Amino acid sequence: MDKQNVYILGIESSCDDTAAAVLCNGRILSNVVATQKIHEQYGGVVPELASRAHQQNIVPVIDQALKQAGIQKEDLSAIAFTRGPGLMGSLLVGTSFAKSLALALDIPLIDVNHMQAHILAHFIEEDGYDVPEFPFLAMTISGGHTQIVKVTDHFEMEVIGETIDDAVGEAYDKSAKILGMPYPGGPLIDKHAQKGNPKAFPFTKPRVQGLNFSFSGLKTAILYFVQKQTKENPDFIKENLEDICASIQYTIINILIDKLKKASKETGIKSIAIGGGVSANSGIRKALKEGEYKYGWKTFVPKFEYTTDNAGMIAIVGYLKYLKKDFTDMDIIAKARIKF
Ligand code: KG4
Ligand code: ZN
Repeated sequence: MDKQNVYILGIESSCDDTAAAVLCNGRILSNVVATQKIHEQYGGVVPELASRAHQQNIVPVIDQALKQAGIQKEDLSAIAFTRGPGLMGSLLVGTSFAKSLALALDIPLIDVNHMQAHILAHFIEEDGYDVPEFPFLAMTISGGHTQIVKVTDHFEMEVIGETIDDAVGEAYDKSAKILGMPYPGGPLIDKHAQKGNPKAFPFTKPRVQGLNFSFSGLKTAILYFVQKQTKENPDFIKENLEDICASIQYTIINILIDKLKKASKETGIKSIAIGGGVSANSGIRKALKEGEYKYGWKTFVPKFEYTTDNAGMIAIVGYLKYLKKDFTDMDIIAKARIKF
């Protein structure tokens, strides 16, 4: 094996996906994710079941990542793992495994902040994808997160806005549940929305100070609206599904774009990078493109497999920290809540 190559194994287990990836000098060699199907029947992630599934999945997932990368564990230069934020029981599985493996192989251990990783996923070298230049604004939107972050360097980040209640993906999933759709309903709302009239049913946008977000009021408004309409017409959802979805999507995208516009204006930064599962949404992608000619933005959307929870993003942070020799001690512990 070429000694100049740096091979990083990334391990991610913060929520309900067990993931492992191998990165060589900034390029992904393998990116394996085992999604836990068990939670679907509960309509959301059950923490105790998640940690048990991580324990079952972690060895085969890492094994597969190494095999796909075509390397042996002895070739690894360092192990990077998600320390937090996330579900404690889930984080513990990845953290303990990473520590033991690093110890056994006698190589450096690198702790990674999951939220920083969502942002630094843009630095994975990938053909056809540009890397944002500093400074830029990063908006992380998923089932667990909604944040706007000012990024001035790889490890100089400031959260300038975040949700005060539900995450945007949660708003999608909860709205979908009200409409009788399975979990996670975000992609389904997006699908129906594309055929409906976004202005059919106006929902009020929440008024939240500064660059923060709130989505719980919208969910309640949708619930009351649907309950009222179905009382009058039991087939209301079926007859209006596309328009309801389009109206929900229109409101949510407006909330996100309004805050991005405000953030861009206040900071003077026009480079905008998004991440998280909701960045797959057709509405947000279209709105960002519009922002390019309306407001002179330059926008960045990473390859889909690096937007949802994955270990490739953990490995790239591991690599960036490896270059700085920013290693961690063996007595490190997982942390459910951490700031940048
Ligand atoms: O990043 P992710 O895979 O997991 C975490 O939550 O960390 O994001 C999943 C979330 C779910 O809430 C799902 O409904 C939402 O992303 N999502 C979407 C779309 N695709 C995934 N929401 C709206 N439109 C989509 N196309
Ligand atoms: Zn995440």
